[in-house]
Amino acid sequence: MIQTLEWTDSGVRFIDQTKLPTEESYVNCTTYQQVAEVIRDMIVRGAPAIGVSAAMGVALGVKNSKATTAGELKQEFDKICDVIGKTRPTAVNLFWAIRRMQDKFETLRVRPLPQIKQALIDEAKHMHAEDIAINQAMGRHGATLMPSSGGVLTHCNAGALATCGYGTALGVIRAAIEQGKNIHVYADETRPFLQGSRLTAWELNKDGIPTTVISDNMAGAMMRQGKIVAIVVGADRIAANGDVANKIGTYSVAVLAKEHAIPFYVAAPISTVDLETPDGSKIPIEQRNPKEVTHIAGKQMVPDGVQIENPAFDVTPAKYVTAIVTERGIARAPYTESLAQLSAAEAVTI
Ligand code: MRU
Repeated sequence: MIQTLEWTDSGVRFIDQTKLPTEESYVNCTTYQQVAEVIRDMIVRGAPAIGVSAAMGVALGVKNSKATTAGELKQEFDKICDVIGKTRPTAVNLFWAIRRMQDKFETLRVRPLPQIKQALIDEAKHMHAEDIAINQAMGRHGATLMPSSGGVLTHCNAGALATCGYGTALGVIRAAIEQGKNIHVYADETRPFLQGSRLTAWELNKDGIPTTVISDNMAGAMMRQGKIVAIVVGADRIAANGDVANKIGTYSVAVLAKEHAIPFYVAAPISTVDLETPDGSKIPIEQRNPKEVTHIAGKQMVPDGVQIENPAFDVTPAKYVTAIVTERGIARAPYTESLAQLSAAEAVTI
């Protein structure tokens, strides 16, 4: 399995996703500030991977702390959480992971400092292993929705590289193929950062899963030609009413799917469901550097002086979503009820 990120004795190690698919190289972080940079610069990306990276960043910061009292450590801990919490605003898994580390810290405050440090490292490592088990459970549920054969479109990368392994949307596809389904993946290239052509294609190709890369503007034509029979994507945040924030371009895919009567599925862990956000209009959308739009592989493609928009995510209204696959089961409309029920259901544990 691809090691997207890993806790090691010498730091937190990440596969450098900005270098894929032509170079497989790794970045080792020895400070929490470096982990924050790795998240901000998208060396690691994808909501669940961002969450576990944040937890490991917090654990690394605490491990390195020179604090001599619990009070001093708490002050440093708060600063670490604050810095890591300012890296990327849309993926709610970042805040979910920080909150989990904060809750853990609270239960440990009376313990000796070395014990606090070790328990936080153990918690982050546990979250890593748990994420893989969650994706496998999600895969088992989602595979039942996949066609026995045909083209399945995905957007961005919601695979092993976006998680600690196996993937969410690509986990559903992997599980369906493991069950003997004959699926051919269509991967939207996903401008401007090209997660589809660089990352989804790379990891599926490595696994021998038949994959065709298309540019984003080809999806409608492929649907019309009957080449795509289902769609499965990941999510960065799902509001209580089932509105889904995911990579920019997902909304267009969902609207096209409705026109062609193709099921549009979202696969995401419960940690991506944000019941505190009532609907998609309240989800903060990250705006990224215009250079991601104006330049491709370092070459300028847009004249100087024009205005650029670069929202990294869009919101797909719940009415376009056929079902939401989680590790605890499948939610269908009305999502306000089904998501609340699944959020209260028993967690997948390891
Ligand atoms: O900007 P990115 O690459 O972090 O965006 C990733 C996505 O939009 C994914 O679809 C989402 O995080 C789900 S990953 C399992």
